[in-house]
Amino acid sequence: MSKKLLVVACGILAAVLMVAGLGVRADEFTKEDVERYDAEFMSVVKKGQALWGSPDLGTNKVACGQCHPNAANTHPETYPKFQKQLGRVIAFREMINWCIRNPLEGEELSADDPRMTALQAYITYERRGVVLEPGKH
Ligand code: HEC
Repeated sequence: MSKKLLVVACGILAAVLMVAGLGVRADEFTKEDVERYDAEFMSVVKKGQALWGSPDLGTNKVACGQCHPNAANTHPETYPKFQKQLGRVIAFREMINWCIRNPLEGEELSADDPRMTALQAYITYERRGVVLEPGKH
């Protein structure tokens, strides 16, 4: 592609992004929208809560809630952070998978597995209002 064409292409892309951006800003939520989003969110939190108390994520009949009642000592507000088990800075879901692999002897969940989303929804809902402190130990 010539330089001139590239400049024109970038201009068009910028214009498209601007229009899309304005569209997002113009969005307004009605009361019904908010009620629906809340209901959808809470239904996923409930799925996470059910998984929390169930042995289904593992192979040894152990459940997350046995060691972390009500999501205790999960500290989602401290992620991403360095974790010595993995030897690097990790995302919160990687620590969830660490516990699935180790105490539960289960198989890791992929990042977009609905069960991973449900676990994160449940844990962060339990910890709502806690100040974000990424990196903290
Ligand atoms: C047998 C007890 C046990 C079970 C069951 C267990 N965990 Fe853990 N979990 C631990 C221990 C011990 C740690 C602390 C590891 C560390 O930070 O050194 C931990 C740490 C964590 C952390 C990170 C906490 C922090 O402060 O950074 C998360 C998140 C977590 N567990 C989620 C889960 C999830 C999700 C499950 C179920 C799939 C689960 N755990 C099941 C013992 C358990």
